[in-house]
Amino acid sequence: MDKHRTIIEPFKIKVVEPLAMLTREQRVPILSSAGYNLFLVLAEAVTFDFLTDSGTTAMSANQWAAMMVADESYAGSRSFVKFEQVVQRLTGYDFVIPTHQGRAAERLLFEAVLKPGMKVPSNNHFDTTRANIEHIGAEAVDLVIEEGRDPTSTHPFKGNIDLAKLEEFCQKERSHIPFGMLTITNNTGGGQPASLENIRGASAIYRKHGIPFIIDACRFAENSYLIKIREKDQATRSVREIASEIFSLADGCMMSAKKDGLVNIGGFIALHDRTWVESLRSLLILTEGFPTYGGLAARDLEALAVGLEEVLDERYLEYRVAVTKYMAEGLNKAGIPTVQPPGAHAVYIDARAFLPHIPAHEFPGQALACELYLSEGIRSCEIGSAMFGHYSDEKGSKNFVPAQMELVRLAFPRRVYTQSHFDYILEAMSEIVAKKSSLKGLRLTYDPPFLRHFTARFEPVS
Ligand code: F0G
Repeated sequence: MDKHRTIIEPFKIKVVEPLAMLTREQRVPILSSAGYNLFLVLAEAVTFDFLTDSGTTAMSANQWAAMMVADESYAGSRSFVKFEQVVQRLTGYDFVIPTHQGRAAERLLFEAVLKPGMKVPSNNHFDTTRANIEHIGAEAVDLVIEEGRDPTSTHPFKGNIDLAKLEEFCQKERSHIPFGMLTITNNTGGGQPASLENIRGASAIYRKHGIPFIIDACRFAENSYLIKIREKDQATRSVREIASEIFSLADGCMMSAKKDGLVNIGGFIALHDRTWVESLRSLLILTEGFPTYGGLAARDLEALAVGLEEVLDERYLEYRVAVTKYMAEGLNKAGIPTVQPPGAHAVYIDARAFLPHIPAHEFPGQALACELYLSEGIRSCEIGSAMFGHYSDEKGSKNFVPAQMELVRLAFPRRVYTQSHFDYILEAMSEIVAKKSSLKGLRLTYDPPFLRHFTARFEPVS
């Protein structure tokens, strides 16, 4: 495409859904009865759903067509073979275990391999990954570089793991580390990519210590594209080549295919070596289903086989990254600070910087997410103290240990919203900026024992 022209959506639309158009007056009681938790608001009351980019993809005509020819046999389905071959070709790993989504892969792998007291290093573990590790009594250790914790740093690869800390950690804890991880892109830290150089470095350290290296690959294509456009000497390589090298540096991956698999449901574990495969397949049969469908319908495997190829289309990835950059720059121009530089799947508003008058124990991110909903029907996701804050002792503001960052994520579903939707949202944001000092914090009225953000309830601080 001509470099001087607008980067356009590289698709046309065949199926449409109406947008829910409510007024602020209609949304006020809806949010209140949902306990100020956007996970508890019905989707039909949401205009722009940026809660997650997970499972919210619009599928292509080719994916829908593939679903129609699926072979729904219980065992040995043709659709599984097709899916398995696509994953093998992409990753180079021989053993492919389908799961219904990412956290099912996490639970299986951790149950098969982890024991209480073990430790799993990564750049940042995603919340379900951390919760599944901790559920077994093991420890999820975050070793992201310092810049990755600073929303204002413009380091191009803030998803990098700190290699010096990783080396030290592996030396000290070797006997407690059954495997090491890296999340690409680093969702918890702002959707930031890890560089190829860093992945090579992590791989060398893990290999030196004989520690298997498992990649959380749910946004591998976006990470690979960001490597292509940001890293020295990578511009001339294809995204597929870069992705293949990343997988070759590790011993296996877990993937929530609901992201870069371009599907509404699905996931897998893929491994180079058979050591864990038998126990994984036994656990899979116990709770998910036979190893050739893993809790999915064969039509899901068909859609995924096509999606894993489509996501490597560089015109699609160029458009995807352009949307996120456009939104981040637009928000910044309106006076809303975001984590720099923008990644690919989401923009992350820095609510601590935007609402400095709301203290961490009154959840500034959650307060902003609520206002985005009330003002414009935008559903976003707090990734801050509502998600990660905890109490050092008895519950109470005095003992509250806030999250490192107070972020509000606007995650963009793939191939769903258009340029005018994004322009409309940017216009609306300026109005929120004008009244930001009147926004109030929240207090918890129900605090569940784990993964608080899904079911917690709040009320406004008076
Ligand atoms: N790993 C990462 C990096 C993720 O972002 C997610 C999910 C998972 C694992 C778990 O996958 O949802 O298929 O079970 N992230 C979603 C999100 C939920 O909104 O970021 P899952």
